[in-house]
Amino acid sequence: MSNYHIKGLKEYFQVYGMAVDDPEQFWEEIAEENFVWRKYWDSVLDWDFEKPEVKWFDGAQLNITENCIDRHLNHHGDKTAFIFEPNDPSEAAEHISYKDLHKRVCKFANVLKSKGIKRGDRVCIYLPMIPELAVSMLACARIGAIHSVVFAGFSSVALSTRINDASCKMVITSDGSYRGTKKVDLKVIVDDALNNSPSVEDVLVVKRTGCEVVLKEGRDEWLAPLLENSSIECIAETLEAEDPLFILYTSGSTGKPKGMLHTTAGYMVNVAYTFKNVFQYKGDDVFWCSADIGWITGHSYTVYGPLINGATSIIYEGVPNFPDWGRFWALIDKHQVSQLYTAPTAIRALAKENLSYVEKYKLTSLKVLGTVGEPINEEAWHWYNNNVGKKDCPIADTWWQTETGGIMISPIPFSTPTIPTFATLPLPGIQACLMDEQGKEIKGNRVEGRLCIKFPWPSIARTIWGDHKRYKDTYFSTFENKYFTGDRALRDATGYYRITGRVDDVIIVSGHNLGTAPIEDAINEHPAVAESAIVGFPHDIKGNALYGYVTLKDSGLSIDNDHLRKEINLIITEKIGPIAKLDKIQFTSALPQTRSGKIMRRILRRIASGDVDNIGDISTLINPETVKDVMDNVLL
Ligand code: WTA
Repeated sequence: MSNYHIKGLKEYFQVYGMAVDDPEQFWEEIAEENFVWRKYWDSVLDWDFEKPEVKWFDGAQLNITENCIDRHLNHHGDKTAFIFEPNDPSEAAEHISYKDLHKRVCKFANVLKSKGIKRGDRVCIYLPMIPELAVSMLACARIGAIHSVVFAGFSSVALSTRINDASCKMVITSDGSYRGTKKVDLKVIVDDALNNSPSVEDVLVVKRTGCEVVLKEGRDEWLAPLLENSSIECIAETLEAEDPLFILYTSGSTGKPKGMLHTTAGYMVNVAYTFKNVFQYKGDDVFWCSADIGWITGHSYTVYGPLINGATSIIYEGVPNFPDWGRFWALIDKHQVSQLYTAPTAIRALAKENLSYVEKYKLTSLKVLGTVGEPINEEAWHWYNNNVGKKDCPIADTWWQTETGGIMISPIPFSTPTIPTFATLPLPGIQACLMDEQGKEIKGNRVEGRLCIKFPWPSIARTIWGDHKRYKDTYFSTFENKYFTGDRALRDATGYYRITGRVDDVIIVSGHNLGTAPIEDAINEHPAVAESAIVGFPHDIKGNALYGYVTLKDSGLSIDNDHLRKEINLIITEKIGPIAKLDKIQFTSALPQTRSGKIMRRILRRIASGDVDNIGDISTLINPETVKDVMDNVLL
């Protein structure tokens, strides 16, 4: 039985059961089937939940870029690996074949080597959605350097924090980026960041927008001339299965961002397997994942998953509404896209616009649709199904996380009947379960609890860079012998999972995870601010938006101080980036606190959501009178 292209629910259950009975055999068969190994593994899995330590395919040797590129060259060298669709539709799209990609990655890898980048070194990539983003990741992987891609919407402070956390030796960036009608001068942001990032020795700059840049002597160089003089041959380094592949930062509920570390073999096997099954990729399909490569979705399903499967994957530089709200649909017709993988927030934004934007296009090439990043509401699901899929494309509502590396719970299109808002069933190889607050597993159906995973899977992040204790505390200490996701979920009568939200202080805004603590820390740096608390409230398009309660040092300042609101959002933009800006800011005289001094966010969350009838017990507060005050001044 092939583990690829599961056909029918019966086969799903059969394969699922097999994977529960013998997970190691299940994953070993997949690993044997479809990859280029330089040496096979000595053991499939070694794990110890106590430490915790997980090793997959230990002893194996490989290079992931050989699996992504070289092995396709003989028979499919001329096949398009990437289609680059520029921001401006009048600029020609670029088709990069596997052969071209091989040359570009080798040349880039040689440039890295010439700059002294070696196996294990960390390279920060801060680029817009242009081919060099994928090429530079693969160039790192080719020589065993660890890439750390930072989403190019993050501010210089956020960038610098991430560079410093991993002591990156190099930054790869561009002069600027295009986002619809806007241009952003990225190199200026990098320059700012590097004032506080002493580990960086070299900066390579891709020319994109042609804006003026200052190249610092001895540190910064244009990439193009370096590539020109670089050889098109670069033998892929032999790497160990557990050698690090990349670090990618995600927000936690407290403290600095967590650098999730993914390693080579397990990540490769899992993203290849999930890509093939969830998107049912076949032949000459054109796959488009609209997520930025700066997030895990782009890592796994714009770059690695598609390439390992020899697929054609689109890199789109722009935004959904440029030159108008029909851009996504135009792009699908133009490139005959077969699979579209996008976020509920994008669907909601597109659904708000006039239907004529969609109806203008045929969309007949589409076969499978996907969503990711946050719960999809029923209305958005139906809109997607009716107007994009024309009721003829299964929707894969895929649940997973930066930490899981690949898709965990999702329908398998054409096999799993879908129900709106349900991510449905765990993929074979993934043992999901629900736990109660006492740490007991909740069995049976029609139940709700905390979502955990019982058994390690190959693409689980191995640690938090530089902080293994935090890794253990965050994911393995809440429930014994289980990975805790931080999400709540319910299981319906048929055993389908529906993810109902986070249990911690992470708020998902437009599909981006935002920890409340770093935002509060940023606000508290404003000289007028005494204290602040951020909560999420429901938002039509973003899913959740941020509501800030801010207590000022001088209570005499007017509560209608819009100037102060602007300043607070400016600080957030500087410290984190525009994605973390607050939609509403309420000035408060004090915040409800427990006797131990903890701010009662539960109450604040309800108030911000307009759910004032369900405030609950406030008797444990040290200052219950604040609740009325907060309620009286709420901004709805
Ligand atoms: C949420 C994105 C509901 C969830 C791949 C998770 C979802 C967090 C879904 C991870 C979904 C992701 N339905 N919620 N289909 N997919 N989430 O790390 O709360 O950016 O824990 O990874 O997004 O976000 P991250």
